Amino acid sequence: MANILITGGAGFIGRHVARALVARGDSVRLFDALIAQVHGARANSIPAGAELVVGDMRDPARVAAALDGVDQVVHLAAEVGVGQSMYEIERYVAANDLGTAVLMQALIARPVRRVVVASSMSIYGEGLYRDADGRIVEATRPGRWDPLDESGRPLAPVPTPEDKRPSLASVYALTKYAQERLTLNVCGAYGMEGVALRLFNVYGPGQALSNPYTGVLAIFAARLLNGRAPLVFEDGRQRRDFIHVSDVAAAFLAALDAPGAAGQVYNIGSGESRDILDVAGALAQAVDRLDIAPELTGQRRAGDIRHCFADISKARAELGFAPKTAFAAGVAELAAWLREQSAEDGAEQARRELQARGLVA
Ligand code: UD1
Repeated sequence: MANILITGGAGFIGRHVARALVARGDSVRLFDALIAQVHGARANSIPAGAELVVGDMRDPARVAAALDGVDQVVHLAAEVGVGQSMYEIERYVAANDLGTAVLMQALIARPVRRVVVASSMSIYGEGLYRDADGRIVEATRPGRWDPLDESGRPLAPVPTPEDKRPSLASVYALTKYAQERLTLNVCGAYGMEGVALRLFNVYGPGQALSNPYTGVLAIFAARLLNGRAPLVFEDGRQRRDFIHVSDVAAAFLAALDAPGAAGQVYNIGSGESRDILDVAGALAQAVDRLDIAPELTGQRRAGDIRHCFADISKARAELGFAPKTAFAAGVAELAAWLREQSAEDGAEQARRELQARGLVA
């Protein structure tokens, strides 16, 4: 049995990780600021058997106290809206990077065996592509929607492995990369084991439905539940990798213990890709609202990439990671959960906030 601290532990992913750890007999403490944008007026129920400490990651005394008696840390605390990060810059850098710095500083005085930090696919920017000659290349030139190679020829997206060079296209991505590097760097220097999981698009029950800045499935669900059409950016053919939150929780459990994982980064995705229009269709079907067709806005969000999906062979080989939830089953489960929720639909307002600042075009 281990004593595990989960920062951001009351959030969507944190609650799933906590439940899985409690179920296997670990002692779990959650550290969370319970911010209103994520948690709404009522706090989400904290998993039975876990202890909750309410606090801000930027508060050194609270963070140090939360580490008392802890053997391992799962660091999830972060602001997570890519679009919002482009105009609430101070808030994102403070919560994500100063927050991680405070944690690292506290860990020097109270070291733990291992820290597993949630990094993000956002650090890749565009995923990898294959050009017309079969070479694996980075996208160099924007086309109307799909990127082109240097000669203006079309490129085909391929799974992205961990060794793709980072391309930090948003403030959010920049802060996530700093979280990842700070953790690996400081842990390495002080005899602790740092591991970073680069999460792809996580979905599932418990997702924040009223936060219009994160998670296209939750955003579309909030629209559909309010009888409105999902707003699909670009032409809807942008591809992502959707991974069920229970598989992500399993990845964190594996990363806490896998021998040889210290200092490593791992992609955590399903290894499959699908486009956003298909996702909108699958969700409409699952919530029985096929009468509401998605609305193609033809607009592009600033900082958005076209395609990125995971090559998960490293996590499979070294963490024994094996995603179990097929997309259709995951969306059906999400739909069942959604029927019991009421979601405030903030997508229109989020779009207006971005538009007012010239961040969608
Ligand atoms: C981003 C981050 C990812 C982060 C995730 C959740 C990048 C490359 N990735 O993923 O690390 O974990 O946010 O914060 O920055 N879309 C619509 N209509 C909407 C909302 C979204 O069409 O109302 C489209 C977007 O344009 C995008 C796709 O759906 O093409 C997915 O968007 P989203 O769920 O926000 O996540 P990402 O941008 O992929």
